[in-house]
Amino acid sequence: MCDLLFAVICLLPVNVYLTQEGSKLHHPLLSTGLQFARPSRATREPRSPGSPGAMGPMGPPGKDGLDGKDGERGEKGNGGDPGRTGNQGKPGVKGREGVIGKAGPRGLRGQKGELGDVGEQGEPGGCNCAGAARAAFSVAMTKSYPKERLPIRFSRILLNEGNHYNVSSGKFVCAIPGVYYFTYDITLANKHLAIGLVHNGQYKIKTFDANTGNHDVASGSTVLHLEQSDQVWLQIFYSEQNGLFFDPFWTDSTFTGFLIYPDQEYLNESDRKANAQGDS
Ligand SMILES: *[C@@H]1O[C@H](CO)[C@@H](O)[C@H](O)[C@H]1NC(C)=O
Ligand SMILES: *[C@@H]1O[C@H](CO)[C@@H](O)[C@H](O)[C@H]1NC(C)=O
Repeated sequence: MCDLLFAVICLLPVNVYLTQEGSKLHHPLLSTGLQFARPSRATREPRSPGSPGAMGPMGPPGKDGLDGKDGERGEKGNGGDPGRTGNQGKPGVKGREGVIGKAGPRGLRGQKGELGDVGEQGEPGGCNCAGAARAAFSVAMTKSYPKERLPIRFSRILLNEGNHYNVSSGKFVCAIPGVYYFTYDITLANKHLAIGLVHNGQYKIKTFDANTGNHDVASGSTVLHLEQSDQVWLQIFYSEQNGLFFDPFWTDSTFTGFLIYPDQEYLNESDRKANAQGDS
């Protein structure tokens, strides 16, 4: 310490601190009590000041100062890159049941099923009575000018299936109830003809043909439902209008009828009877 103090004193330029009024050296360090010998009067003649000395060497670096205040807040930086994808979340709540879809296409054909149970015994077979129910006739005249208002007897038989046409009476007598077709074609000559088809005494259809001097053919036809024992025939329905004419070498007059179909009730009854016979 003493050495340092001394060095400082020595280095201080003495003339700088010489003041005008005094002969005392005025130096800050002299106030510590150190006294220097005053120069003699003879050497204190005023002189012109010398040239300033050379600048001393640079002192050692000072200590670090106190920390400064914080700077102002900087501007917001740019957004960073997106982070990594997070883990998958838990499954959501189960949704409601959907609408029933359309029916699918038809499936393949299944396998053939097993044989079924034996069925109950059927009704008796009967007699095939529909096929057995036959009635048809076709007959022709062998005389001219029959008597009026009486059954005309057609005595030449072309067909008499079942023999339901009675040649003796000239009447068709129904044996099989059902629906029948009747028709007639009558040749006339020399007289008018007024002929009708009779069912159980009632005229069903009538035919009139006026004689015009030549031969002519009168015809009529109809369909009737007949019960068993019903009778059908032809007869002249007016006096002197019986012009039915017969010529074995020339022309014919015919009366024809046949069963179209029998009543179902009759067939059922026939079946029942046939089965009863078969059982006995
Ligand atoms: C045919 O008619 C005649 C005269 O009416 C009658 O005597 C006879 O019994 C009849 N024949 C049959 C099979 O019905
Ligand atoms: C005839 O017999 C059949 C079969 O048994 C039945 O269905 C029908 O009703 C019968 N018809 C008549 C008219 O009796």
